Amino acid sequence: MKREIIITNDGSKTIHIPEWNEQYHSIHGAIQEAKHVYIKHGLAFFLASEMYSKASEVSILEIGFGTGLNAFLTAIEAEKLNVNCNYVGVEGFPVTKAEIEALNYSEVLKNRDLFKAIHNTLWEEKTNVSKRFQLKKEEKQFSKIQTINTFDVIYFDAFGPRVQPELWIESIFKIMYDALKSKGVLVTYCAQGDARRAMMAVGFTVSKVEGPPGKRHMLRAIKG
Ligand SMILES: C[S@@+](CC[C@H](N)C(=O)[O-])C[C@H]1O[C@@H](n2cnc3c(N)ncnc32)[C@H](O)[C@@H]1O
Repeated sequence: MKREIIITNDGSKTIHIPEWNEQYHSIHGAIQEAKHVYIKHGLAFFLASEMYSKASEVSILEIGFGTGLNAFLTAIEAEKLNVNCNYVGVEGFPVTKAEIEALNYSEVLKNRDLFKAIHNTLWEEKTNVSKRFQLKKEEKQFSKIQTINTFDVIYFDAFGPRVQPELWIESIFKIMYDALKSKGVLVTYCAQGDARRAMMAVGFTVSKVEGPPGKRHMLRAIKG
């Protein structure tokens, strides 16, 4: 499918898929959305929980590694907060080198080396990207994930149910539920009712949380 780079309202770029009229991030602001949904309501929420106070590190699974923006923001936070982070990014259709070079996240966030290091890691290999941030990029379909009781946080960043309804159903959320540790947290920008009901059907306790600018709500689901 054709992909093109566009600029969003906070000045950060994203990828647009004309055929679907769908973007990798919100057109209201890619960095703004990622910080709100995944860093504030995912990572920071977990770090403030009693689950984290018992652990010394956080393990994160990203559903849809895409441009690497969520990984980049998480790596910056891990260094800033001195938190050890094990991050697995799953992606079925990796972006190209040319696309990575056309994005402006390292300029906007003023950290060229870390973004480059994230993209320079080899697929399928666990790599220490920085002192606090370990990354493994896995090229595979979401439906093939088989990890059990492993992650504290899941960033569920698939394309929306309008274009990929098959990713917002019980069988996929069961895979996510199984991959999380008890009391683990799944966050997503999506607030759709059918998606929320599918999460609840597999056992998640789901809350509607204030969405990023331009969106009323998002969802946060807790295991068990
Ligand atoms: C919304 S984008 C992810 C954006 C990404 N988190 C970022 O920060 O750039 C959704 C991603 O899911 C990937 N994808 C779509 N369907 C998939 C599938 N069935 N299995 C694995 N990856 C898939 C797409 O290629 C795309 O990169």
